[in-house]
Amino acid sequence: MVAATHKQGGILPSPTWWRDAAIYQLYPRSFADGNGDGVGDLAGARSRLDYLAELGIDAIWFNPWYLSPMADAGYDVADYREIDPLFGTLAEAEKLIQEAHERGIRIIVDIVPNHCSDRHRWFQEALTSQTARERFWFRPGRGDLPPNDWQSIFGGPAWTQVADGQWYLHLFAPEQPDLNWNHPDVRAEFEDVLRFWFDRGVDGIRVDSAALCAKDPALPEPGLSASHPFIDREEVHEIYRSWRTVADSYPDPRALIGEVWLEDQERFARYLRPDEMHAAFNFDFLGCAWDAAALRACIDQTMTWHPSGSWVLSNHDVTRHVTRYGRPDTSTAAGIRQYNPVVDVPLGTRRARAAALLTLALPGSVYIYQGEELGLPEVEDIPAERRDDPIYHRTGGDDPGRDGCRVPLPWSGEREPYGFSPNGAAPPWLPQPDAWSSLSVAVQEPDPASMLSLYRSALRIRAGHPALGDGTMTWLPAPDGVLAFSRGAGFACMVNLSPAAVALPEHAELVLASTPLAGELLAPDTAVWLMAGPLE
Ligand code: GLC
Repeated sequence: MVAATHKQGGILPSPTWWRDAAIYQLYPRSFADGNGDGVGDLAGARSRLDYLAELGIDAIWFNPWYLSPMADAGYDVADYREIDPLFGTLAEAEKLIQEAHERGIRIIVDIVPNHCSDRHRWFQEALTSQTARERFWFRPGRGDLPPNDWQSIFGGPAWTQVADGQWYLHLFAPEQPDLNWNHPDVRAEFEDVLRFWFDRGVDGIRVDSAALCAKDPALPEPGLSASHPFIDREEVHEIYRSWRTVADSYPDPRALIGEVWLEDQERFARYLRPDEMHAAFNFDFLGCAWDAAALRACIDQTMTWHPSGSWVLSNHDVTRHVTRYGRPDTSTAAGIRQYNPVVDVPLGTRRARAAALLTLALPGSVYIYQGEELGLPEVEDIPAERRDDPIYHRTGGDDPGRDGCRVPLPWSGEREPYGFSPNGAAPPWLPQPDAWSSLSVAVQEPDPASMLSLYRSALRIRAGHPALGDGTMTWLPAPDGVLAFSRGAGFACMVNLSPAAVALPEHAELVLASTPLAGELLAPDTAVWLMAGPLE
């Protein structure tokens, strides 16, 4: 087992690393395939740690790597203490944690507390034992109908019937039965799982579907009382308070990062009270239109409600932002995923470059979803028979699902698998577009104008500049449609979201531009980092 201390290798002790870290979201199935089966794995991730160190990130968040039948790409966990053979072994995960630490990179793992897999030992026991059913939500039906009319977030009813006629609750797929958090076994088990990973040196936990774990035991229809029967119930906070105690019991405190989708900022902020989670993804920012006033309002809200920003532009559940920013409507008002009749990818890419500089200049931490540093667009033409996501299948294709943002990364070469797998391997689990040779790491690395070079430069400057990362910001006067703010001692960021070029401030020294400048003007959809005395 890897020693739990972080003083080994390159990790410097820091009780607040989560406040300003640049965190790379690594989706193991699609990052790098070491064994040639067409699916990414830990061997692949280990072989690319130097790439991540070179990129300049501080931590990696791994999407679930546990034993799983993969009904929801690993979010259906059969054993929280085992690595799925598709990805590797526990010994490899331990080595990976150690090798990342040696490079100064922290590790965050994904814990899924709302549900487990129907292949989990507990659910298998529940099929034959009434007592074991108490760890889940089993109920008799209403005649032939399920116990209530709750709908699954993935489409269809939230209940499935077992052989003896009872029904069990699953807010997601039927292969993901919801756990009963009123049961002491559930509480004890997850605290032990946290310790299991913390003891192996893991620095933080991403808490999946964090606002859903508590249910009203009467299982009423939503809307009948002031509190929702399963979203953001008051009781849920006790869970994270006890998890915080576990995290704080380690000498170098471990971080809890919540996946909390709530519009109400006051309710959202409750998850970030000092004895609960450390951080939660800023999905308002992710969903915000490419519009100066909307972004400014969102940033102001964030500074009010988050202890420190947790900026995120994309993840494994939403349409990639190069594509979102190339649509006529750049917000996610119509949904975090949608079919795109019109997408201007070059425009989306230009905006994504500007958004990178905006995000990396804001106070707080930032999450970079793998492939974002390469400027990958959403893949929208995956044939139906190659699609894997249960959302696509359970909605009969009404929702495009999430496969398009999960396509394996292009590393090198002219054609599939673009270095994702070794030569002669099985085809990648999702098809890669023909045009991706020009987006590969090998092509972008030597090109100073590439997205990868922009991310590397920005992350290097961000890591070295005392004003960046955690701290405060001050809005600066700017023309309509332009965002300008300083980060203390002479550092400013300016983003032009208006349709016209605007003048740059005088006496400012250019540090970095998202798109090369023509003279003293900042073109539309361009961002710059500036240094100067008189900016404040
Ligand atoms: C979260 C994950 C998503 C998963 C769901 C169910 O929203 O991000 O990928 O499908 O939870 O676990």
